[in-house]
Amino acid sequence: MGRLVIVSNRVPDPRERDQPAGGLAVALADALRDEESSLWFGWSGQQVDFEGDPEVAVDSHHKVTYATIPLTPAQHRGYYQRFSNGILWPLCHYRLGLMNYTKSDWESYQDVNTMFARALLPLLEPGDTIWIQDYHLFPLAQMLRDLGVTAPIGFFLHIPFPPWSLFRALPPADALLRDMVAYDLIGVQTDEDAENLKECLRIEGLDEGVSRVMACPIGIDPVKFGEEARAAWDGEEVARLRDSMHAEPLIIGVDRLDYSKGLEERFLGYERLLTRYPEHRGHVTYLQVAPVSRGEVEEYRLLRRQLDETIGRINGAFAEFDWTPIRYLTRPVPRTVLAGFYRLADVALVTPLRDGMNLVAKEYIAAQDPENPGALVLSHLAGAAPELTEALLVNPHDADAIADALHQALTMDKAARKRRWKLLDAEVRSTTAGTWSRDFLTALHDAGKAKTA
Ligand code: ADP
Ligand code: F6P
Repeated sequence: MGRLVIVSNRVPDPRERDQPAGGLAVALADALRDEESSLWFGWSGQQVDFEGDPEVAVDSHHKVTYATIPLTPAQHRGYYQRFSNGILWPLCHYRLGLMNYTKSDWESYQDVNTMFARALLPLLEPGDTIWIQDYHLFPLAQMLRDLGVTAPIGFFLHIPFPPWSLFRALPPADALLRDMVAYDLIGVQTDEDAENLKECLRIEGLDEGVSRVMACPIGIDPVKFGEEARAAWDGEEVARLRDSMHAEPLIIGVDRLDYSKGLEERFLGYERLLTRYPEHRGHVTYLQVAPVSRGEVEEYRLLRRQLDETIGRINGAFAEFDWTPIRYLTRPVPRTVLAGFYRLADVALVTPLRDGMNLVAKEYIAAQDPENPGALVLSHLAGAAPELTEALLVNPHDADAIADALHQALTMDKAARKRRWKLLDAEVRSTTAGTWSRDFLTALHDAGKAKTA
């Protein structure tokens, strides 16, 4: 078997014990553990002024070679902050009103994709299979093809793909869709995303691309995560959190600080719980871990300010001198500790307004004690919802629905929790990071064979 070459904007630093918050890095690190040899190429996370071609830094760790390039501050702004996160991100999360298009950002996006292609080319070897990840790099396959690369190239989109009625609002929608036909296989998270992308391809007259679209939901490594949760249980941080709870119930939320995660609506749902079910006042605590993400992008800065205000208002209105309703952290927590927090929590509150998949929901299930599992309240608009149907599914825009689901979760008897958790756990174990990458790569291999037959 040849090498697997992964290309993504965000590449974890192999020397760092903690991976960056974000589903892509977490799932790929889990998936790559099965590979014999692989190359992971992408942005180093550094901004450096340079002219001409960037310097490629190479580092090997276990069986993975990491090759990374920096971005100039101007590229970081145009390609990453603005086109990827100020245009494609809101568009793909159905938030047209937040999309701020400029032609120069589109040009920067294309230039950086060309730079990625040129820097990757000399690193490629015969027999490689290339797997490009996420919306930062839609046009990369076409650029590699233009440079003569004939290797199988697959793509996976970690975020939702919107319907044509929204996607057509992007001025270069047609160019992006045309470029996508250069892939031998395009993976998306859900059937809904697949139908949306196929519709766009069909309308653009790119019928050859339609049969290359595949729904292939991503997962975690539930066995490893469960072990981490058990190990964390005896650790200092979990002991401190447990002691601070005085045997009262804990609700947990864990998300990058992103407007797609529905944090404001979620806090309002929790406030509604305290108003409509006052028996929980003075008892329940909601711990929200929300590390700052993309803090240079205006919408993210505004969101942070808004959340500070909302949380301050709710805590001010409901707190007692010996009880705080919301505990809020905007820094990352090591995953090993996080796993123990999930295990301790009676309820996980996962209510994105839209989400490609949402690995936090799967991590929470994997971390539970089978003899006394907690309950999951999940947005029906998360990519994980079609799989995790035994969760308490809610509309994330409906504060009353969130309050009712929280009340149901907090008062559910152990037998009902166990019954739901068992079915959810079976689901999380059937679609893992391993099955995700194996299913996708097998289909990519078959697509390659069909092409040469
Ligand atoms: P996204 O990819 O949009 O960030 P996901 O829920 O799919 O959303 O993935 C988030 C990943 O990042 C999960 O694996 C989660 O454990 C991790 N993560 C989120 N918040 C934190 C945090 N505060 N500290 C450490 N890891 C985090
Ligand atoms: O999983 C979706 C995703 O956008 C990844 O592509 C990305 O790495 C992650 O969220 C975190 O975002 P960022 O890389 O911008 O910090």
